Amino acid sequence: MTVRKKVEEKEAPPVEEGLVPIFVMGERYMVPESLTIQKALEYAGYQLIRGCGCRGGVCGACSTVFRMPDSYRVEVGLACQTVVRPGMYLAMLPFFPANRAISDIESMKGTGGEVASLYPEIFKCIGCNLCTQSCPMDIDVMHYMAQAIRGDVSGVAETSFDCIACGLCVARCPAEEVQYHVGMLCRRLHARHLVPESAHLAEQVDNVAGGRFEKTLQELMKTGDKDLRKLYKERVMEPDIAADDWAPEDSSKL
Ligand code: FES
Repeated sequence: MTVRKKVEEKEAPPVEEGLVPIFVMGERYMVPESLTIQKALEYAGYQLIRGCGCRGGVCGACSTVFRMPDSYRVEVGLACQTVVRPGMYLAMLPFFPANRAISDIESMKGTGGEVASLYPEIFKCIGCNLCTQSCPMDIDVMHYMAQAIRGDVSGVAETSFDCIACGLCVARCPAEEVQYHVGMLCRRLHARHLVPESAHLAEQVDNVAGGRFEKTLQELMKTGDKDLRKLYKERVMEPDIAADDWAPEDSSKL
């Protein structure tokens, strides 16, 4: 026989204007409705020493899962980007475990077969699309996993380019894939073996190694904070739309 403890119905405390209730690990807090989850946690007294990095939606450290009271769905988001909603029941995820295959990029060729041998589980994909639905960067994760299965390494690199490795796709994947590691491997292979070498880059690396910028660097290191800020603000930038041969008037520092 199952016995259920009778829970006394309590009247909900009055809601102050501009504050909404959220639940963090079972505890109820009233927080300003305009805050992100991250700021609401701090408002509630939590000190974030893990699961918090850039605060700008770039580092992927603040993965969070939550449920709303009127829905059966598990929702996900970045704590630094997602604004609180009344009744949100949330928990921040610690870094979600995802094994990364050890590889030596230099000795590889950039083939789909290499990716498949390092991550054979890509073939377990069941096409449920939960990975895409959970991605806070709106990346079509399932599509790049399909590209990985087809051996299209450059395609994976392109599609996964905005990945911030927050791990939410991995956390939600019923096939236990490690999508963001597959994306990362393909981007590395693409950059190392599949795109043509940039002559300009090689030239600049030689310039750096040959000490071409040493004098400028030393001058900057001796410049005070105020002047450095001024230099930075007044720097000449290439316009958004510029001819291929655009160059600043003063090219002495290039
Ligand atoms: S703290 Fe970096 S993405 Fe949220």
